[in-house]
Amino acid sequence: MNSCVLVTGGAGYIGSHATLALLQAGHDVVVIDNLCNSSQESLARVSKIAGRTPKFLEGDIRESDFLRHVFSTHRIEAVVHFAGLKAVNDSLRQPLLYYHNNVNGTLQLCEAMSEAAVFRLVFSSSATVYGEGAQVPIREASPTGVPTNPYGRSKLMVEELLRDLAQSDARWRIAILRYFNPVGAHPSGLIGEDPNGIPNNLLPYISQVAIGKLKQLQIFGDDYPTPDGTGVRDYIHVQDLVNGHLKALAVIDRKPGLNVWNLGTGRGYSVLQMIRAFEEASGRSVSWQIAPRRGGDIAECWADPAKASAELGWEAQLGLSEMMADAWRWQSKNPRGYSSVSHGQHLANDADS
Ligand code: NAD
Ligand code: WQD
Repeated sequence: MNSCVLVTGGAGYIGSHATLALLQAGHDVVVIDNLCNSSQESLARVSKIAGRTPKFLEGDIRESDFLRHVFSTHRIEAVVHFAGLKAVNDSLRQPLLYYHNNVNGTLQLCEAMSEAAVFRLVFSSSATVYGEGAQVPIREASPTGVPTNPYGRSKLMVEELLRDLAQSDARWRIAILRYFNPVGAHPSGLIGEDPNGIPNNLLPYISQVAIGKLKQLQIFGDDYPTPDGTGVRDYIHVQDLVNGHLKALAVIDRKPGLNVWNLGTGRGYSVLQMIRAFEEASGRSVSWQIAPRRGGDIAECWADPAKASAELGWEAQLGLSEMMADAWRWQSKNPRGYSSVSHGQHLANDADS
């Protein structure tokens, strides 16, 4: 058995980019995913770019027998845990599903890790765990708040679960990575974000308006106390984000216990700035109109990334123009995402055009 990194949710948006980066860094990778929000096509494309193939096992992190099988048949050294549900609106309609999947799923995973004596874990958390009144730039020491939806609460619960676990047993080495707003795609245009149905997030929405799939972007509020009145966020290129995971994996090797790092650029951009940057990168115009504020939104949110810089030696390298150019390359080459291709045909159609 070769030793390897287990990536849960590795067929998804961020997980597929991380799987690629891990393969390119020389790791062997086992991906587990139940494909509830992804397609195996992403991994076929990861293999094409890397020239190496991750091992894929279809299954659910809530299934302890499945996890036991994964750990007993592979020599897993560390786990990078992306598997989870992430749609804020769905979480309001189906809170039990979100708690079951995100909280219970992580609990099952930690139990299986403990049984297999695997104690290195990198967890995908979110800036959503910070309180509404958090002062920007947001530092890791800022208090966590009261998230406005079950998705956010599930992330906070998992953070607390992991904190208790690390305190209970000194063998655990856990990195909690709080992502700000991940965007963009691998520069090949072969892998990217493929949201189900109408996107909730800003950049996939903008891209789908630009490609003609959606008519018009609704800007949720122009009366925030920000320079142009629209919401300000810290958008981070997915390539930078996954590099942060590789750094965290290396650092927790020598840093036991629980560690929390923000992964953001430290710069905020407004919705209007994002639209303009996208139009510049794509050469397309994006129709928009002002709509009422969206419930639960805050005016501005960006990271203080100094802790990740000092402790991980990590800083975001890519700016807004790369985020936009790569998002547009992915969207324009794959207008219908991964579903544009049928098996056997993949890679020959959109992605290679
Ligand atoms: P994604 O939906 O593209 O990827 C998640 C993957 O997990 C999917 O492939 C899905 O099929 C799989 N999955 C879900 N439940 C599973 C289960 N029970 N068992 C096995 N596989 C399961 O989402 P993403 O954007 O790549 O996000 C990855 C992680 O990062 C998530 O935990 C998400 O909450 C977190 N995160 C995402 C963002 C963002 O804006 N994209 C921001 C902060 C945090
Ligand atoms: C960004 C800005 C909107 C869509 C969400 C989750 C968070 C995290 C990342 C997972 C805001 C505005 C958006 C649109 C708009 N996910 N907007 N029209 O809200 O910062 O964070 O995704 O962890 O938990 O809450 O990201 O991309 O939805 O919005 O005007 O159609 O764009 O109001 O100012 P957000 P977003």
